[in-house]
Amino acid sequence: MPIKTAKGFSKLSKEAKMEWIVNEYLGGDDTNIKLLKSYWHNDAETQKIHDEFIENTITNFYIPFGVAPNFLINDRIYCVPMAIEESSVVAAAAKNASFWMERGGFKSTVISTIKIGHVHFAWYGEFSTLKNFVNSIKDKFYSETESITANMRSRGGGIKDINVVDRSDLEPNYYQLEAKFETCDAMGANFINSLLEEFAKILERELQSSNLSDSDKKIVIIMCILSNYTPECIVKCEVSCKIDELSEDPSMDKEEFAKKFEQAIHVANIEPYRATTHNKGIFNGIDAVVIATGNDFRAVEACGHTYASKDGQYKSLTNVEIKDGNFKFWIELPISVGTVGGLTSLHPMVKFSHQLLGNPDAKSLMKIIAAVGLAQNFGAVRSLVTTGIQKGHMKMHLLNILNQLGASKEECEKIKLFFSDKVVSHSAVVNEFCKLRGIKNNVSIKNNS
Ligand code: MEV
Repeated sequence: MPIKTAKGFSKLSKEAKMEWIVNEYLGGDDTNIKLLKSYWHNDAETQKIHDEFIENTITNFYIPFGVAPNFLINDRIYCVPMAIEESSVVAAAAKNASFWMERGGFKSTVISTIKIGHVHFAWYGEFSTLKNFVNSIKDKFYSETESITANMRSRGGGIKDINVVDRSDLEPNYYQLEAKFETCDAMGANFINSLLEEFAKILERELQSSNLSDSDKKIVIIMCILSNYTPECIVKCEVSCKIDELSEDPSMDKEEFAKKFEQAIHVANIEPYRATTHNKGIFNGIDAVVIATGNDFRAVEACGHTYASKDGQYKSLTNVEIKDGNFKFWIELPISVGTVGGLTSLHPMVKFSHQLLGNPDAKSLMKIIAAVGLAQNFGAVRSLVTTGIQKGHMKMHLLNILNQLGASKEECEKIKLFFSDKVVSHSAVVNEFCKLRGIKNNVSIKNNS
């Protein structure tokens, strides 16, 4: 396909952008325009809000928004909003929320909400000189940024600490001004980045006007940016019960289940191949709530994965302890989210999610998100060490297969009933569908998942 370049594309109207795409890439087939328009919100004002979130918006992209009720977290029941496309995630969250609700619920604690950011720079003198110099001008970082921090300080936040860090072990002449921040209920990215850029200017200016030697005055500011790795912004969440209470299924040997569960967590702690999938399942739940509440799931994921590697090897974010007949299962991870600013007051569905959760503050939201991650992981590991994951997953995926096949509502009901006591596989569903329609099984389905 020849490369179609566009000049000044962002300046075109939405209609013109769609036309250009359809003409240049889709053979002028304007059913595509109908498709794109069919995803526009029917209220023009609401659509305008979405249009303006990003550049070059041409339409909206739906993912399902579901809820997982019965989350008992620190003695309060939540109905948790989740935005996710994967079939079995909300079902698993809801099932495991109810399971733990009957066993005392989730106990979540926030350890700290400190965020972190750096001015990365090159400097060419002795570290001790730099350290003394930064200490001598430290007050200026606070006093000269008072107008930026005023609001945050009035809410109990602001700059918490500033230090110069020697990273010349990693790279000759590489140092950082490392600052810690409390951003209260905001995720605080703009606040932190604005401050870091001011710090860099102050550092550069003060060095130039100092009485240090000419060579010690030389500094190259590489960049100023918050870190999405926030290892102090930690939430812990746990569930526990007697091993005897681990299942209502009389045919299940609870001791054996607990042992296998423990082995599965151990495998995720020693084997990065498994740890990656294990933690991916945790983020199935976490991301869904992070997205529904208008937070940055890329930041939360990146941070979680770095934290999972903090001991030098990528490990499980959850852990289990079986002691004196008790089963204790917990998660510990950094989650940096906000409940004010960003999308929270703009996106109508995000506002709805916050209302549904009782307008939590950032700490409460961290606790809820951690509980969902833990519930998700409990459900996944329980399935893996008992029935296998496909049973539940394929039951939920059945509808996707039927929709691909174009099954009617009636056919869906019949086929769902047929599979209620059978293993679902793609080919078995196609067979049953063909049988029901009285057609030969030559249906071509591109996606064989
Ligand atoms: C699928 O999205 C997630 C799981 O693979 C997680 C896991 O294996 O723990 C089921």
